Amino acid sequence: MAGTRDYTYSQVASHNTKDDLFIIINDQVYDVSKFVYEHPGGEEVLADVAGRDATDEFGSVGHSEQAKAILETLMVGKLKKTPQDSKSKQAVQVSYKSSPSTTTSKDSGIGIRMYVMVVLAIAGIFAMRKYMQAQEVK
Ligand code: HEM
Repeated sequence: MAGTRDYTYSQVASHNTKDDLFIIINDQVYDVSKFVYEHPGGEEVLADVAGRDATDEFGSVGHSEQAKAILETLMVGKLKKTPQDSKSKQAVQVSYKSSPSTTTSKDSGIGIRMYVMVVLAIAGIFAMRKYMQAQEVK
């Protein structure tokens, strides 16, 4: 395609506002600055992925062939992968993935402990009532 060039991940990342909005889909770089306000899915979803890789987000919506055709008209270049970029991208992905999971495991640890304590407390009350009823019968 004429007029296209290579961009590093950090160069794409600097185009991260609604009026200057680049995204990466399947290692191609797209300038979405003008399309953002016409997007049927809204401006915000595109603003959320501004300056970064939106391959998963674009794919998960199940965009139509028409959407893919629009996408092609917005292409400005290819992603130039540098070792540094791929490392920082991986680091971002790892930190995205690992931080919520650590919180979840901590949270669920506390949740399970609380649950066990509540169940034990209820069981204790029942046992106590049974015992007292048995005493009354005698
Ligand atoms: C430049 C990239 C994009 C283009 C050209 C584009 C284009 C379109 C088009 C034409 C539609 C209408 C339905 C269809 O034909 O599939 C649509 C819907 C939608 N898009 Fe995108 N889209 C892009 C990126 C994204 C991204 C990155 C996301 C998510 C983060 C997203 C989320 C949505 C959603 C949620 C809808 C559904 C709206 C609805 O059905 O009410 N789009 N998009």
